[in-house]
Amino acid sequence: MPASFIRRGAVPALRGTRRAFASSAGAHKALPFFLHNARAGTHAKDEGEGKTLRMIMFGKPGAGKGTLSGRLVKKYDILSLSTGDMLRQHIAERTEVGVVAEEIVAKGGLLPDEIMLRVVTSKLDYLHNKHWILDGFPRTLGQGKLLDAHLRAQNTPLSLIINLDVPDKVILNRISDRWVHLPSGRVYNMSYNRPKVDGLDDETGEPLSRRPDDNPETFARRLSAFYASTSPLLSYYSTQPHAKLASIAGETSDEIWPMLEQTVRAVAPSLQERGESREARRRNSLSEAVLARSETKSLRGDEVTEY
Ligand code: AP5
Ligand code: MG
Repeated sequence: MPASFIRRGAVPALRGTRRAFASSAGAHKALPFFLHNARAGTHAKDEGEGKTLRMIMFGKPGAGKGTLSGRLVKKYDILSLSTGDMLRQHIAERTEVGVVAEEIVAKGGLLPDEIMLRVVTSKLDYLHNKHWILDGFPRTLGQGKLLDAHLRAQNTPLSLIINLDVPDKVILNRISDRWVHLPSGRVYNMSYNRPKVDGLDDETGEPLSRRPDDNPETFARRLSAFYASTSPLLSYYSTQPHAKLASIAGETSDEIWPMLEQTVRAVAPSLQERGESREARRRNSLSEAVLARSETKSLRGDEVTEY
């Protein structure tokens, strides 16, 4: 990406071709792939719980978080929560959170940490014994600490943080080609994973749309926000005792996928492959299961009282 495109620090109001596996963390640059416990001797109570996948999919905007989470969810008995998808749903439904989020998301900014924690935990807390992935959360150090405290209180610590390390210039090309199915969060790309019928979702046949924040100006701000507020989380997680941090670099999801799958299976050996039935896939596809209507309604009710 040209230096002029991303102006680091250009959004002060925001608080918050190497085709190989590599780490983005300086200390690990020489390694093609790394997976480590931040501290030797993982806490005893984590050993058993390590069999449950509680994972963060971390990476720049457009790195493929949604695409790769979707691939894991499609193959394995895992649920995925995307905060971006949840916010777009709130915006579409004009909830109180949606009203707050609309302008911030459109401008490529970040919502306040406390709102995001509530949005996430209101869903996460239903997933106690499930394998799950968080896509897009946490996104600031503050969110990371809030999430840790919340999970610690429930004795359900994170087990894995995956950092998708994709070069900026690769990402830019993808964004201009992205189409999404808003209700499910399914992601398509006209050159990488085209829908079966142009403009229509494979599962439902409903129309696809472009995201309003997928334009070069807003994307530059999202990337700036990533460097300013989100990337510091990596060093935070590298010092945390409870979870493994794995950084996987590549230019395509096909490069990243085998390492991702291997890592996930190593952390959660009890993971089961899903039955191939279309209905089971649909039920569990991105955000759908956890965004069950009734829960959404009760969540909205809570928010109305507080915001
Ligand atoms: P969010 O929706 O999370 O956006 P993002 O982080 O910017 O990430 P993207 O969804 O754009 O990218 P992705 O990594 O999922 O990539 P994808 O798989 O789609 O958040 C949106 C906004 O909500 C934020 O800007 C913020 O305002 C707000 N927000 C969300 N969470 C928040 C939080 N925690 N705190 C505060 N605010 C928050 O892939 C991208 C494209 O590439 C697709 O077209 C895909 O098909 C294609 N592609 C994927 N892999 C490949 C490949 N290998 N080769 C070619 N194309 C590929
Ligand atoms: Mg996404």
